[in-house]
Amino acid sequence: MQTSDKKVIFSAVKPTGALTLGSYAGALKNWIAMQDDYNCYYCVADLHSITVRLSPADFRRNTSEMLAMYLALGIRPEKCTLFLQSHVSAHAELAWVLNCNTLFGEARRMTQFKEKSKRDPENVNVGLFDYPVLMAADILLYQAEIVPVGEDQKQHVELARNIAQRFNSRYSPTFVLPEPVLPRSGAKIYGLQDPVKKMSKSNDNPNDCVYLSDDADTVMRKFKAAVTDSDARVAYDKANKPGISNLLTIYSVFADVPVSAAEKQFADGGYARFKQCVGEAVVEFLRPVQAEYRKIAADKAYLQSVLKTGAEKAAYAARKTLSKVYRKVGFLEKA
Ligand code: TRP
Repeated sequence: MQTSDKKVIFSAVKPTGALTLGSYAGALKNWIAMQDDYNCYYCVADLHSITVRLSPADFRRNTSEMLAMYLALGIRPEKCTLFLQSHVSAHAELAWVLNCNTLFGEARRMTQFKEKSKRDPENVNVGLFDYPVLMAADILLYQAEIVPVGEDQKQHVELARNIAQRFNSRYSPTFVLPEPVLPRSGAKIYGLQDPVKKMSKSNDNPNDCVYLSDDADTVMRKFKAAVTDSDARVAYDKANKPGISNLLTIYSVFADVPVSAAEKQFADGGYARFKQCVGEAVVEFLRPVQAEYRKIAADKAYLQSVLKTGAEKAAYAARKTLSKVYRKVGFLEKA
């Protein structure tokens, strides 16, 4: 199939920290699977990252580690467009035009803005408020039809759709209206220590979270310490057995078998053996990924060339949309 016949997908992640099992299960596994059948734009949203304070050195390292890990996991720059948001200036430029077509009241209603403002009242910057409008620019520049996101970003994609609709009716049809698509259920990974909360680096217990960069001993230790229950039955029951259900999900994702098959496989064993097998499945999955990661991370020239090609491909598509927008709003054409 020609690239132009395929539906356009846009998705992005912020390079704000190390990748976890949850990042793979929730987003990346899906990204990798979609590369063949869609025209995918995968963006490392570094502009979005600076609404919070980060040290420039950490930020720079996070961004290149994330990129190397994506490539190691199987994002193929020949099949998709993988790029850094800050390398394509059209994102910031379209965001300004969209700002002028977004109502203050509309932006103020965003749940994430309200939550983040409450969490860090000392740093409610204008960028935080404008964050969803920059997201709208990300999506609309590529005329994306499908935007795979987690539940927390759904409202932002709906805002992008409303802004696009308003612009289209104010001027003339310009933007494809995007649709948020949630990944299929079961892909959400919870903490190993607190299995009713999302697996998170911010849990006080470092055993809660498994990183894609963890070595085999660390992975096995964390799974051994995983919280279960006293029922001694390996079965998927999210409400009553959150720990075991989470481990079944993890096994299903990393051993690549359906949850029902995993349930049967472990039905007659104890929890200790089950936890060991889940740990081993994760270790086996990570082994070749980490070897590939080390190779890629050491090859700065390769990373540079991936970024250069990605930025060129993205900028070409983005420029087409931005020129149209500039013409429609009435800016004089540059000679
Ligand atoms: N805000 C998203 C997140 O935190 C990342 C993001 C930036 C994004 N731009 C986007 C997601 C556009 C979807 C579409 O996860």
